Amino acid sequence: MKLADRVNKIQPSPTLSIDAKAKALKAQGIDVIGFGAGEPDFDTPANIKEAGKKAIDAGFTKYMPVGGADDLKDAIISKMKRDHGLEYTRDEISVACGAKHTLYNISQAIIQEGDEVIIPGPYWVSYPDQVVLAGGTSVLVMTDETTAFKITPAQLEKAITPNTRYVILNSPCNPTGSTYTKAELTALGEVLRRHPHVLVVSDDIYEKLIYDGLQFCNLPMACPDLKDRTIIVNGVSKAYSMTGWRIGYACGPKELMGAMTKMQSQSTSNATSIAQKAAVEALNGPQNAVSECRRCPPNSRSAGPISLIG
Ligand SMILES: Cc1ncc(COP(=O)(O)O)c(C=O)c1O
Repeated sequence: MKLADRVNKIQPSPTLSIDAKAKALKAQGIDVIGFGAGEPDFDTPANIKEAGKKAIDAGFTKYMPVGGADDLKDAIISKMKRDHGLEYTRDEISVACGAKHTLYNISQAIIQEGDEVIIPGPYWVSYPDQVVLAGGTSVLVMTDETTAFKITPAQLEKAITPNTRYVILNSPCNPTGSTYTKAELTALGEVLRRHPHVLVVSDDIYEKLIYDGLQFCNLPMACPDLKDRTIIVNGVSKAYSMTGWRIGYACGPKELMGAMTKMQSQSTSNATSIAQKAAVEALNGPQNAVSECRRCPPNSRSAGPISLIG
């Protein structure tokens, strides 16, 4: 069969295929540690599962607003204020089927043929392929242990061209675990101020999986004046062990959120109604499960093989 060229320009997600292989081996009773998909080893907390069940019984099983239900948007607004001191309105939020889908929508809504996206490496595998699918070019800026696998202001400055549309900052980073400090983000912010055409996509999906007394910080927390050109990407997958529920979201400029919602209206429509209700409970409900699961070593929670973030 003749397939579109774009299919051959990308790879199937390697983390998902490694994950499928690890799960198949586990099903055969083999003790495997999977370094594929980033999947917490605890179950979705009971209160969140209960909210999903209630949503089914209450009939939240129909089409919903494409960009997310108002109660979920309000829960996201409260979370952003509570955790990061950042203020957003409903029209500055777009809910999709996971952070991956959110990042995809961003790439589709922003990138034109010939546009460049700066991706510090080592990077999460889907970033470059999403850029390719949108017709853009990834500018990979490799880092190493001398900078704790973080991009420096000089590297960022060098990578920016008139064609740069955005830079992706992923902190804590998959796969390196590197986490940018406020001072490091402030220094990157100084470079970005010199290049007002460059947007920033801040992938904060691992913000809760942070250790050793480190404080989470993202670009708008360090540089409030850059909030207008930063798109925060987050979701409930990692913090609440809801990888299969598929809820992610972006917070950013209203025009872009509208464009992403418009693109989504011609693909998936709304993210699953039931999962949205569960995500409201995740964000608004008790947060102790998150800190308990982070604190307690995996082996003390589960007797079986464990899956680590890859
Ligand atoms: C860095 C990073 N961003 C985004 C995602 C996607 O998360 P979600 O399950 O919400 O689509 C992942 C998942 O592994 C990830 O590692």
